[in-house]
Amino acid sequence: MDHVKEEASINQLVVMEISRLLKQIIIISTVVLIVIILFANTRTYLGQFYQRKASFVAPKVLTLGEIHWEECVPAVENVDCGMIIVPKDYFNAEAGTASIALARYRAQKTPRRGSVFLNPGGPGGPGSKLPITLGPALAKLIGDDWDLIGFDPRGIGSTRPTTRCFSSPLSSTAFFANTVIEQGITVSSISDLSSPLLYDELVEQHRQFLAVKEAHAELCGKVMGDELRYMGTATVVRDIDFMSKIIEGENKKINYWGISYGSILGAYLVNMLPHRIGYVVIDGIVDPVSWSNEPSHKWPINWIADAEKTYKIFLQDCSKAGPSLCPLTEYKDEHWQNLERRFEDFFDAVARKPIPVPFGNRPGVLTSGGARGLLKIALQRPLDWPKVAKVFSSALTGNATELYNLIVHPLTHDPEPYISPRLAVTCLDSPRPPSPDEFPTAEDLTKQGLKALREVSPHFGLSTGVSEPDGGCQYWAVDGPERYTGPWNATLETKMLIISNTADPITPKSSGLLVNSLMPHSSVIIIQDGPGHCSIFMPSLCTAKIQRGYFAGEMPKNGTVCPVDVATFPGEESGKHIQALSADDQELLEALKYLEANF
Ligand SMILES: *[C@@H]1O[C@H](CO)[C@@H](O)[C@H](O)[C@H]1NC(C)=O
Ligand SMILES: *[C@@H]1O[C@H](CO)[C@@H](O)[C@H](O)[C@H]1NC(C)=O
Ligand SMILES: *[C@@H]1O[C@H](CO)[C@@H](O)[C@H](O)[C@H]1NC(C)=O
Repeated sequence: MDHVKEEASINQLVVMEISRLLKQIIIISTVVLIVIILFANTRTYLGQFYQRKASFVAPKVLTLGEIHWEECVPAVENVDCGMIIVPKDYFNAEAGTASIALARYRAQKTPRRGSVFLNPGGPGGPGSKLPITLGPALAKLIGDDWDLIGFDPRGIGSTRPTTRCFSSPLSSTAFFANTVIEQGITVSSISDLSSPLLYDELVEQHRQFLAVKEAHAELCGKVMGDELRYMGTATVVRDIDFMSKIIEGENKKINYWGISYGSILGAYLVNMLPHRIGYVVIDGIVDPVSWSNEPSHKWPINWIADAEKTYKIFLQDCSKAGPSLCPLTEYKDEHWQNLERRFEDFFDAVARKPIPVPFGNRPGVLTSGGARGLLKIALQRPLDWPKVAKVFSSALTGNATELYNLIVHPLTHDPEPYISPRLAVTCLDSPRPPSPDEFPTAEDLTKQGLKALREVSPHFGLSTGVSEPDGGCQYWAVDGPERYTGPWNATLETKMLIISNTADPITPKSSGLLVNSLMPHSSVIIIQDGPGHCSIFMPSLCTAKIQRGYFAGEMPKNGTVCPVDVATFPGEESGKHIQALSADDQELLEALKYLEANF
């Protein structure tokens, strides 16, 4: 959980030739920014942890269709930073242009095969970070004969227009502080889900949720106006097509790699433009049918199908590891249900009496909803479990400061909360009820949450909001130029590769199987047998080699199951397995570990 989503606020399009002085200022401010990032606190979202380590500066005005590459600032080996000018609206030339921030990790081997476009998830993740911070590791996974192109999708990162609703970071933090958006929904106890008192408490919290969402949507609509219309996934698909034609030529196929929300972008891409598609890998699959056809408050119930399974692995692995590696267990091989009970006792106690945290990132209060939401997020990254176990263990035994610090940002954390760019995408992708009398009420949301708790995940049915702050799109001010809703059964020349884990707490295997079943002859699915979100958060040589082979033209056998090559609570013996590997495998595993740790 050491990852910070950040971005520079350095303007991308510099209209005049840049003087040496200005360049120096940019370098200095970038260094300052990196220092701020390094010392900023942690917050983890689904597969989208961003550090801006370079800025994007074009030395002259570019016009539609022009692309400019230059050395990143600061320079990164084998990486170019750049920007490209695209139509803001592919259906209306009068809307003008948008500029997309790019970064390219150059192919290290000849013959160069082409470009692979990357997406890191979110939505809200600036993909330009991927070549800059992870280029060599990604090249190990995808192949070093490809240019790897990261881009900040519409509304995100250094792409312009960007999504900015609030006047300052302080204003945005203050807006969400101590609301259910920051603190999560508290379920006073999961032991009696039919309690009328619980129902009333949940309705109360959802009333606040809706009011905050309405204010946020109204603010974004007023501040951004029509600029907010161009952030949807369908528009990003058009951008990829446009960029690929400029970079590779009209007839070269589009290649793509995306995780988590990147699987949504991938599914849209292959289905909107099937004849344009080359190699596509999607990992950690989100159900695109639900995403495009159901309002966003209905999405999470699908996402958490394997959350309980992952939680059980966490508790069992902890108990197996024993208290020296996992202090949540009192003794080695304690029954996992004891650990589960201690967690519930803690969540119930905090629900009755929230914990004051006067000396956290900022003075505040730890709520039960926040703590449970953080546990839910932690399930995504199994290699962080030892650290998370220590943090929760401190909280369970009386010191909640570190836990609180994982949930609540310091005041200066975000230039704009991740939530605005995210909503700018999700609210254009999901259908919106046509009239206010069809808007979901606090009672509707409560019933939906209780259904998720009863039928899908008794522990986390109402906990996705902390990491996936969707919903409230009924208040969103604008529609996009285009909304794609299917079909999802495209025929492709080259099959798409789908990767799902057996226990992914937020993108379940069932969604991977769904996408696979909709394209039975145009996709193959491989299953990584392990916990965590997306295959990359639990390194597997088998999964990695299948991806590398796929991009080299070898189609894996449908249904292949891959083991993982790392332990969740590594003890003494875990090094031995690695020493037995070939030099090539060791090198690949190192790259995968680097990806996991720095993604
Ligand atoms: C609680 O933990 C924090 C962070 O580790 C530490 O700074 C603080 O001193 C602890 N408080 C107490 C009362 O032990
Ligand atoms: C794809 O799905 C659409 C609608 O869902 C259907 O009308 C069409 O026949 C299907 N195409 C193929 C090739 O199966
Ligand atoms: C591919 O494998 C998946 C997972 O085992 C399976 O559900 C699906 O039916 C297979 N597809 C085909 C066309 O055999």
